[in-house]
Amino acid sequence: MSLLTSFSADCNVAVIGASGGIGEAMLRLLSDDSRVASIHALARSGADGSLPKVSTGSIDLSDEGSIATAAQLAAKNDALDLVIVTSGILWEGEDLRPEKSMRELDLQRLMQLFAVNAAGPALVAKHFLPLLRKNSKTLFASLSARVGSISDNRLGGWYSYRASKAALNMLLKTFAIEHGRQWPDSVVAGLHPGTVDTALSQPYTSRTPKETLFSPATSARHLLKVMNQLSPEDSGGVFAWDGSRIQY
Ligand SMILES: NC(=O)c1ccc[n+]([C@@H]2O[C@H](COP(=O)([O-])OP(=O)(O)OC[C@H]3O[C@@H](n4cnc5c(N)ncnc54)[C@H](OP(=O)(O)O)[C@@H]3O)[C@@H](O)[C@H]2O)c1
Repeated sequence: MSLLTSFSADCNVAVIGASGGIGEAMLRLLSDDSRVASIHALARSGADGSLPKVSTGSIDLSDEGSIATAAQLAAKNDALDLVIVTSGILWEGEDLRPEKSMRELDLQRLMQLFAVNAAGPALVAKHFLPLLRKNSKTLFASLSARVGSISDNRLGGWYSYRASKAALNMLLKTFAIEHGRQWPDSVVAGLHPGTVDTALSQPYTSRTPKETLFSPATSARHLLKVMNQLSPEDSGGVFAWDGSRIQY
């Protein structure tokens, strides 16, 4: 069984942020997928290397050298078909929390969220996009968030997270234009996974209705289906877990 029927057989896949809730669930599905030949599970804190077809490697988004090395290793034996960035940050410890008000804005917090959520995936794209296979459908996807949509911002708050994801969306669109000139069969996209029960969302889901809170496995399955449906005309866009387009 395969969720990736629109890609070439024997896909070579890289997952960046493979230690996270959604990243790990993605690894499991990819490992079970009959069209996937090899998976490079790249993470800062170590990923599950016990699954079939999975080899692990280390990557720290704040260290461009580690990104460049991980990219070369992932494409050493074969060009890449799919690169999925599942890393990201919303909060950390007691001091780094999403802002409720402009009074809480802080340069350090803004820079940290931009570094991990926008600059990190951009450097991953810089080093991984040139290593994608040519002449068959390939995809570079980075997990964005609906709250990064400027036109959809009705509630305010969460300044750093919203802005970092909006910046990510702009970066992805810009990569899509340049990359598409030489890789016309390729798709570069941002994906919104839904509200997913992971460490990232855990402090903020107490009021989320149970039926709209996805398990990581459910979200990952939806996302792989969307990746399978996307075509080069969609490149540069942002899409939700159900395949619907999210306006910037
Ligand atoms: N969960 C949701 O409801 C939700 C909703 C909308 C969008 N998203 C997006 O989905 C993505 C995945 O989120 P998740 O819910 O799976 O979160 P998660 O379980 O907290 O996983 C986050 C991942 O990001 C990695 N990471 C953070 N900083 C890093 C760095 N400097 N270098 C390398 N890796 C780093 C973490 O690695 P370590 O293990 O090393 O810390 C971890 O693998 C994020 O981009 C998030 O914004 C999630």
